[in-house]
Parts: sequence; structure tokens; C-alpha cells
Amino acid sequence: MKGDDGELDWLAEDVLASAKYRTVSPALVRALAAEELGKRSKRKDALKAVKNRLHQVAAAYLDAAPQYDAWLEDLSAAVDDAERLRAVCAGILARHVSTRERMPILAQFYRDLFAGLPPAPRIADMGCGFNPLALPWMGLPAGASYYACDVFVDQAAFLNRCFPLLSVDGRAEVCDLVHAPACPDADVVLLLKTLPNLEQMDRQAGRRLLDALDAPLLIISYPAHSLGGRRKGMPDHYAARFEALTSGRGWRVERFDYPTELVFRVFTQPGAAHDAAA
Ligand SMILES: C[S@@+](CC[C@H](N)C(=O)[O-])C[C@H]1O[C@@H](n2cnc3c(N)ncnc32)[C@H](O)[C@@H]1O
Repeated sequence: MKGDDGELDWLAEDVLASAKYRTVSPALVRALAAEELGKRSKRKDALKAVKNRLHQVAAAYLDAAPQYDAWLEDLSAAVDDAERLRAVCAGILARHVSTRERMPILAQFYRDLFAGLPPAPRIADMGCGFNPLALPWMGLPAGASYYACDVFVDQAAFLNRCFPLLSVDGRAEVCDLVHAPACPDADVVLLLKTLPNLEQMDRQAGRRLLDALDAPLLIISYPAHSLGGRRKGMPDHYAARFEALTSGRGWRVERFDYPTELVFRVFTQPGAAHDAAA
């Protein structure tokens, strides 16, 4: 007879056997499976609960199965033509709900938020989705490097093949910011609409991740409306949550209100290079 570990193996394998979740980080699946087995007596209920959680925090943002091979071909064919490359990137960004809604403000967004970056900045994009495909709009200074992480194994492989085509020294990897909050050394950390998803998995996950960060500039954003399109006081709600997470840390904060996104630019070290340039 299988013991607790056997149950856990079975459940994790069941989740990873489904087409929709087969490329999710096995470590994350296992962590969620352990949590749900601890709460429910029936394995089928635990299976449903793990899938629901993965849908809400990650899969719901992909409206169809990503066509990574075809997209890489399109990017490769456009690599010598900046305008065409942007058009291909825009098409890919539109396939992820989160970046799709940022498209109308994309150029302004990075003009505002990346103003005054230091030379050769190291960017860390945490819970990145397809956002690295916005590199052509970021106007990064020469020598910049880009780290990106999210929960999908195939997405990380795709992004690793995109970076050379986008002429950036980049690296993507699979992460689980809820159960293993960590970030490489960086000058700028992007947490774009990521914290609500982490906190949906675990209310303390946002605080733990902020505690683990050590970058002089954090760009933290929240959606201005729900996935279903309802606004229902979300900017106020998230502004209060951001305040609760960051008060008492001695950080200097600038707020930007875009139609689809509420953004906080956070200077964590008074007197840092960005601070002077702001
Ligand atoms: C609202 S989307 C934002 C995507 C991207 N940052 C953007 O703004 O376009 C939230 C992202 O968080 C990722 N995510 C969810 N849970 C995560 C976890 N435990 N660790 C890392 N990323 C996670 C999802 O896969 C999804 O790409």
C-alpha cells in the first residue's frame, strides 16, 4: 500500500498528466498537491483543487496553447527588421491576457518607469509571463542584462531562445515565488501584476518575496480591473494592500495610475543612482 508520499506522487502525476498543466513546474505542482492533500480526504477533490488554483494564478492568462515553435520562426524571420520584429512581438504579447491589456500604454509605460536607469542595468522580471517580448519598447541602456522567471517549463525554454533574437543578454528559468521566494542580484526588479497571484496562493507570499529582494529599484504593479473586466474599486483595494506590505520599510514610492494598471516605483535605498535621476 502506498503511504503519504505515494499519495502525493500520484496526485502530482495526475495533475502533470493533463494537457493544460503538463508544463507547470513539477515542484510547484507537488507543493500545491501536498497542501491540498492536507486539507481534503478525497483524492479527487484534492486533484480538482490543485487544478483550480493553477488555473486561477497562471493558466487563465493564456487564452490558447502557446505556439512557441511558430513564434520563434516568426521572430527569426524578422530579426533584421526592427519594425517587423516589433510587430511579431506585439502579436505574441497579445496572446497573454496580462501583456495584452498593457499594449495600448506599452511605450509610455517603459518611458515613465525606466527613466534614469543606471548604465548596464540588470533587470529581474519576476512572474514574467510574456513580458520579456516587450524588450523592443523598453529602451534599455547598452550592456543591460535580463533575467525572467515564471512557473512554465516550456515558456522558460521559449524565452531563452528569444533573448538572442531580441539582442539582449537574457536568461529565463522556472521558479516558484510562493514556496521558494528568491531573486538573483539585480538593479531593477519587475513585479508586474504578480503579487496578487502569489498572495492568492498564500496570503504571506508577497511579504516573504519583498523581504527576499535586495534591489535598489522595484517596479510593482497591480491590475486596475479583474480578469472579467470589472473595476469594482480595485485600484483602492490594491493601493491599500501595497501600503500594508511596504509601510515601515523606509522606501520612497512614486505612484503611476494607468487605465489598466496601478504601478508603484519604489526606491529602496535612499541616494541610489535611480533616485538621483528621478
Ligand atoms: C497577472 S500575470 C502577470 C504576468 C507579467 N508579469 C505581466 O505583467 O505581463 C501573473 C504571472 O504570475 C505567474 N505566477 C503565478 N504563480 C507564480 C509562482 N508561484 N511563481 C512564479 N510566478 C507565478 C503566472 O504564471 C503569470 O505569468
